[in-house]
Amino acid sequence: MTIRPTGPDPKKPLRMGVLGCGFMGKCHTNAYKKIPYIYPAANVLPRLSLLCDKDERKVQAEAVRYGFERYTTDWTELVADPEVDVVDNCGPDPVHPEPCIAALANGKHVICEKPMAIRVADARRMRDAARASSAKAMCTFNYRFMPAVRLAKDLVASGRIGVVYQMRVNYLQMAGHDPSLSPNQAWYSAWPHSGGLQGIGSHAIDQCRFLVGEIKSVSALVRTFNKDRAIASAGDPDAFSDEGTAAVLEFENGAIGVMESSVVATGRKNYLSWEINGSKGSLRWDLEHPNSLHACVVTGENSLFGFSEVNVTESFHPYSGAWWPSGHNLGWEHGHIIEKFHFLDAVANQKELSPFQATFEDGYRVAVIIDAMRRSSLTGQRVELRY
Ligand SMILES: NC(=O)c1ccc[n+]([C@@H]2O[C@H](COP(=O)([O-])OP(=O)(O)OC[C@H]3O[C@@H](n4cnc5c(N)ncnc54)[C@H](O)[C@@H]3O)[C@@H](O)[C@H]2O)c1
Repeated sequence: MTIRPTGPDPKKPLRMGVLGCGFMGKCHTNAYKKIPYIYPAANVLPRLSLLCDKDERKVQAEAVRYGFERYTTDWTELVADPEVDVVDNCGPDPVHPEPCIAALANGKHVICEKPMAIRVADARRMRDAARASSAKAMCTFNYRFMPAVRLAKDLVASGRIGVVYQMRVNYLQMAGHDPSLSPNQAWYSAWPHSGGLQGIGSHAIDQCRFLVGEIKSVSALVRTFNKDRAIASAGDPDAFSDEGTAAVLEFENGAIGVMESSVVATGRKNYLSWEINGSKGSLRWDLEHPNSLHACVVTGENSLFGFSEVNVTESFHPYSGAWWPSGHNLGWEHGHIIEKFHFLDAVANQKELSPFQATFEDGYRVAVIIDAMRRSSLTGQRVELRY
């Protein structure tokens, strides 16, 4: 039987304009295509209005494949387009600041991939543009929306593991493990890459701030082991594309932490992991097993005392109810879909982004911390953070 629409959809569409149709353009568009049927009861209906990429052949083909209504090769058209409500910047790192600032000035809501900007000065301009606008602006720290990560945040915030003493976080990949690869091959990008600290360390820093709290000071070693890859970072001639970072963190609440990022960690495909130790228990999680939160809570029962593995897929767990029955796992893709849904829900229904979504203030603070880590590595000094 042919199914006919029963009438106009009562939801007001949010017209999406996506910049960049590479890896992340595909990932974010995938989210917009899935949101209407995963969240049918919500007042959120993304419409694929305009796709932008400087590569005309690619954008033409991808606009058809994804189902966009139109395409352009010029981001200035995208950010001014009257048929676009939300600009989603999935372009390379150096293409984040100007389109986002222009879109906000034009009253568009904005999503920007991480790292929000390579230079602190650019991140500050973006933060200030978001502050000056009544539109909403989110930086894509998508791991906040993995159900196990959100459950951990709730447990820490409610005091279930007591006073947090320590956190250790790693983001490890192996894309650059072969020393013969050029920087762009090593970091699988066709644009001058800004290094491991910007590319994946930014996520690790956001997890620290999200789960434990504001960072007060850092000391760090930032290294490029293969010296010919120490090219000027895209958008910042004063910085270079690093391969590995090791940092010691001091949190404002008295906790301490260590962070490592690496793009030369042979054997590690996409290993974001952390462990948090508190006075009443510990939590640990990693992205290669994203549904499992390992929890150790002091109970007084010595024989079973240790970590328990919790499969975070119950309908009462954060973000899980919209998905599949208990035990039917979610993955990396779903964190992006859940994040984009919550942003569009905030836009459509005038909800706050904080504290669960990363605002441009969060993107700016991560840029400040990365800059401090670089300065610490250059000077050998611990750096106090000023936001
Ligand atoms: N949050 C995550 O999970 C995640 C994962 C990977 C990458 N990223 C971030 O996403 C962003 C995009 O990364 P990617 O891997 O999709 O890159 P990509 O190279 O796959 O895609 C970028 C696209 O932007 C286009 N482009 C470049 N300059 C442009 C311009 N001036 N105007 C219009 N289009 C332009 C390119 O032609 C390309 O199609 C980066 O900031 C990266 O750090 C985030």
